[in-house]
Amino acid sequence: MAREFRTVGVVGMGTMGAGIVEVFARNGLQVIAVEVDDKAIEAGRKHLEVSTGRAVSRDKLSQEDADALLARIRTTTSLADLADADLVVEAVPESLELKAQIFAEVDKVVRPDVVLASNTSSLSVTELAVRTGRPEKVVGMHFFNPAPVQRLVEVVRTVVTEPDVIDDIKAFAATLDKVPVVIGDRAGFIANALLFGYLNHAVKMYAERYATREDLDAAMRYGCGYPMGPLALLDLIGLDTAYEILETMYAESRNLMHAPNPLFKQMITAGLLGRKSGRGFYTYEAPHSPKIV
Ligand code: 3HC
Repeated sequence: MAREFRTVGVVGMGTMGAGIVEVFARNGLQVIAVEVDDKAIEAGRKHLEVSTGRAVSRDKLSQEDADALLARIRTTTSLADLADADLVVEAVPESLELKAQIFAEVDKVVRPDVVLASNTSSLSVTELAVRTGRPEKVVGMHFFNPAPVQRLVEVVRTVVTEPDVIDDIKAFAATLDKVPVVIGDRAGFIANALLFGYLNHAVKMYAERYATREDLDAAMRYGCGYPMGPLALLDLIGLDTAYEILETMYAESRNLMHAPNPLFKQMITAGLLGRKSGRGFYTYEAPHSPKIV
């Protein structure tokens, strides 16, 4: 019988984690969201408030429904509070060791039949699976940014994932109005493997002053019909996250297309992470705001 997912745990409330929390809560699920400390919980809540507030201001959500949505989210700093979860999705920064530690801990807390999913963009799901006592119940569940808007979910199977786990996660994704695609465990899966060479190339063109940021972005929007240009998209993804994804793909493939342009490191060191820090290639009204000033 197919698994039912009513209470979902999400570890991490950064850009992706908060977006994933919103997806679940919007769909009427109870969410237990875990972050490292109160400051990180506050930042995650802020992200959720901005996102739901925008939906309210556009008449897409009533204030009452927005309040009910937020009330379905319980926040905590303890992984032990995930004991009641029917599914746990991890969405912490792209560090294999950090993720593996979380998987090992969550494995001890939740029921033995509970599926553990990682939102990793490029790290090995197999490496995470083997750090648990239930490798056959570990999958990738990779959302796209902004998670409440982008409909794709990449469901990553390892060589030991049980087929019924894949079927249940695919069916679950469909109930969230997402479009699941299934792939094997290779860095970048489908979308990032295709996307990040292009983004890295755009940064190279910008760093070499080949064209202005506005013209680079306009070319892809108005010439190719992309919803946003590559530099604006990098600001949305976060330069730190993009750098980690490129590094992992480059380490696996040694394809120079994925060797991160040095400008990434310079901007990250200077705190220019994109929308989340208020400035990246563009400057934003406030942290997390989509509005360019
Ligand atoms: N959170 C929640 N909702 C958001 C949002 C956010 N951060 N940003 C925009 N939205 C919603 C708006 O509320 C609006 O909803 P509505 O249609 O119900 O009113 C809708 O999205 C459209 O927003 P806007 O009108 O403000 O702006 P745009 O029409 O320009 O759309 C966009 C903004 C959805 C971000 C669009 O430009 C887009 O799809 N860009 C491409 C994003 C993309 O490529 N994402 C993938 C990145 S790669 C990735 O995530 C992989 C990972 O591993 C890093």
